[in-house]
Amino acid sequence: MLIFKCPHCGLPLTVESRSYRCDNNHTYDIAREGYVNLLLSQHKKSRHPGDSKEMIRSRQRFLNKGYYQILADAVAQSTGRSQNLLDIGCGEGYYMEILRAAIPSLHLAGIDMSKTAVRLAAKRKMNAHLAVISAYALPFFDEVFDTAVSIFSPISPEETGRVLAENGRLIMVGPGEEHLRTLAEQIYERIVPHKGNYDLLDDAAAFTLQSQQEIKQSIIVDGEDVHDLLMMTPYYWHTKPEQQEKLAQLPQLETNIHFYINIYEKLE
Ligand SMILES: C[S@@+](CC[C@H](N)C(=O)[O-])C[C@H]1O[C@@H](n2cnc3c(N)ncnc32)[C@H](O)[C@@H]1O
Ligand SMILES: [Zn+2]
Repeated sequence: MLIFKCPHCGLPLTVESRSYRCDNNHTYDIAREGYVNLLLSQHKKSRHPGDSKEMIRSRQRFLNKGYYQILADAVAQSTGRSQNLLDIGCGEGYYMEILRAAIPSLHLAGIDMSKTAVRLAAKRKMNAHLAVISAYALPFFDEVFDTAVSIFSPISPEETGRVLAENGRLIMVGPGEEHLRTLAEQIYERIVPHKGNYDLLDDAAAFTLQSQQEIKQSIIVDGEDVHDLLMMTPYYWHTKPEQQEKLAQLPQLETNIHFYINIYEKLE
């Protein structure tokens, strides 16, 4: 069984009526949807940390249409033998739901800094431990997971290494050089591909890269979904209103999706 750690004092949290409580009487309400907000006020830089509501809703609509199915299937394949899995920066839970379907016996946990995202994830009803909290202060005891997943999300190698058991695996997904290139071409004059967070892991002594899988596919995004695709990427903040207008007029957008799945093993 998975146990949350009190973010305030580090003692275990136990469920008492509709809240989590530690022996020091720190309490955290369990929301109606079944997640818990463990974000302490001193950890919040803004009132709504993490991605904005609009970004999260757009990501959910877009992902639910299956445009990244090929990635979800590959992630599910790579988690084959997992028993205790933590999705760090789980967003609105698209990948967690697919993992749940792939491995019904999995002990599944997910955290994200955005309350909106975690609430939507909880609504997927996937029998998972879900908490609003930062990837830099994971609310779990040491070495409790055999697998961690990080898909396009911020990550702390130290914290991730702490909660992973020895020989535990980190499955990390980031963008390839061709990812959404034709979308980017509509927005920037010069394109500098986003490199993902791999450097962080390459520098972390505790992790060793075991394998890398490349996934590349051409997709055709329906005109009505182009706005959601734009909204869920950092590109949105760089688009001028006239570019958004132009994108909104497109009957469809053909673009590559391109990902790397890096699998690291915790060896110490
Ligand atoms: C690009 S989204 C990816 C979400 C999800 N993994 C997916 O692929 O659909 C990045 C996520 O990281 C979350 N996030 C941002 N900063 C964070 C932090 N410090 N700790 C945990 N999550 C964070 C955002 O709220 C957002 O849901
Ligand atoms: Zn406490």
